[in-house]
Amino acid sequence: MDAMQAPTTRRTGSVDRLIALATEDMAAVDTLVRARLESPVALIPALAEHLISAGGKRLRPLLTVAAARLCGDGRDSALKLAAAVEFIHTATLLHDDVVDASALRRGKVAAHLIWGGASSVLVGDFLFARAFELMVETDSMRALNILATASRVIAEGEVLQLTRSHDLALDQDTYLQIISAKTAELFAAAAEAGAVAAQAAPDRVSALRAYGLKLGLAFQLVDDALDYSGQANALGKNTGDDFREGKATLPLLLAVARTGARDADFWARVIDRRDQQEGDFRRARELMIGVGALEATLDLAQDYADSAKAALSIFPADAWRSALEELADFAVSRSA
Ligand code: IPE
Ligand code: IPE
Ligand code: MG
Ligand code: MG
Repeated sequence: MDAMQAPTTRRTGSVDRLIALATEDMAAVDTLVRARLESPVALIPALAEHLISAGGKRLRPLLTVAAARLCGDGRDSALKLAAAVEFIHTATLLHDDVVDASALRRGKVAAHLIWGGASSVLVGDFLFARAFELMVETDSMRALNILATASRVIAEGEVLQLTRSHDLALDQDTYLQIISAKTAELFAAAAEAGAVAAQAAPDRVSALRAYGLKLGLAFQLVDDALDYSGQANALGKNTGDDFREGKATLPLLLAVARTGARDADFWARVIDRRDQQEGDFRRARELMIGVGALEATLDLAQDYADSAKAALSIFPADAWRSALEELADFAVSRSA
């Protein structure tokens, strides 16, 4: 990876066309999700509804549905797998907000601040279990394998990240390994499972997996930039959470490397020693912008988005392929 190269041109994408193409499929996925969050234990639907009815972009189930459609088939099992993918994602969000002590999610107070951390973690476990029930219903050991592996890899990524926070010596390859596991793996699995549901040929399954993986890397790189440069009301989550938690994301690692000895004391205090004061986040953001660390992060994200699009070249040009290409640029240009 080389984040030091000359800036690439970033293109503007949109997810509108994909949403329009997938309207019916996604309505069916939504119906499934809502039906399956029911439980006689009242806290479960109450807490899960809080998060699920707040929306979210639903990008991962969109990938499953679109991959199946691009491969021309697989409707019923693709819809179940798409719902399973969204359940896995939602479970990780419940867990993640406890781990990151985040206060805002999808524009609402985070569930753990209303019901407590224990409830959030346990309802997250329920959603994981629901995902597996849905997968089993598809009778596809291949799809089950893909999403079971993804669930394990996400957990590994989260734990690896936890053990390396506050580590300003983190190398970029390990950072990429973390974001690949915690985020890109589910994008990859979502797209791959859609192709498998459609019984696509092996080269198509691999191409969609590669597309999802690169898209997921671009998505998380941008997320890490937006944690410094975004707007909370657009993102539906607070900025500055990564800085407060001392998370060694690429914008921070590049800023530390590029500001060098001049600002080493500042970074050591706020990240190594966890001694943060009012104004420190603003200063960190200014330093980052000053040395082009946010630009470089977005440039790398665009490189991954371009690789994602390139992975689709084996498919005939059609509306689904174009919509997925636009989604790759959206992952980079997004502000929400
Ligand atoms: C949030 O994902 C978690 C990350 C991988 C950054 P999304 O930004 O897709 O979350 P929702 O589902 O739209 O809320
Ligand atoms: C995203 O984690 C990946 C998972 C939820 C597993 P982050 O902590 O980077 O994402 P946000 O910023 O809270 O959405
Ligand atoms: Mg988080
Ligand atoms: Mg996290």
